[in-house]
Amino acid sequence: MGMTDWETRYRQGDTPWEKGTAAPPLTELMARWEAESAWGGGPVLVPGCGFGHDVREIAGSGVEVVGLDLSAAAVEGAERFEKIGAESYRLADLFDRRWWPEEGYGGWWEHTCFCAIHPSDRPRYAEAAGALVRPGGWLCGVFFLTPNDPGEEGQGPPFESTREEIIGLLEPWFDLVEDWVPETGYPGRVGREWTAIFRRRV
Ligand SMILES: C[S@@+](CC[C@H](N)C(=O)[O-])C[C@H]1O[C@@H](n2cnc3c(N)ncnc32)[C@H](O)[C@@H]1O
Repeated sequence: MGMTDWETRYRQGDTPWEKGTAAPPLTELMARWEAESAWGGGPVLVPGCGFGHDVREIAGSGVEVVGLDLSAAAVEGAERFEKIGAESYRLADLFDRRWWPEEGYGGWWEHTCFCAIHPSDRPRYAEAAGALVRPGGWLCGVFFLTPNDPGEEGQGPPFESTREEIIGLLEPWFDLVEDWVPETGYPGRVGREWTAIFRRRV
């Protein structure tokens, strides 16, 4: 099973996921949510942040945000943007426990990280979230559930998923608080994504 070489894809500009703006469902979430208090007091971790559009969108609400990516080209690209607030970027593999800060995070924002990792690594994603989000903190995300055309399933990234699978993976640590199908999205994504707000059990 081949793992995606994200660094090469950034270096070659082969980044169809890169849309130049924050994910519209994040803007939608922040409009209906009292973001600053809701992010558990921060900091917020954005795993697989790419060029950091979502990081800067969240930083605009005044909370501290850390964008994480394992591609140096992605982190370098993110760092080239003008600073909005208390955002920073970190070059690391989400699954590498050596960088996991003991104090954890108050919030987690997911967007096209979960669907980018191989399905066999999903339990590791859930373990990282359980370890890194503080009790009482929040895991929010927009999950791209049906990214493939008919017949292309399983050949990602992006890899498809279901609401039930994600709830089940996070269940050892997180309760689902609220979820909806976003009304906004990048062109072609509306109706194929799922926004969810989970709370880390105390
Ligand atoms: C499909 S891209 C999405 C990037 C960004 N969220 C966006 O929408 O523009 C997936 C990102 O996750 C990063 N990534 C994949 N596996 C990772 C891991 N184990 N730890 C950290 N980042 C990872 C990749 O380098 C890539 O930037």
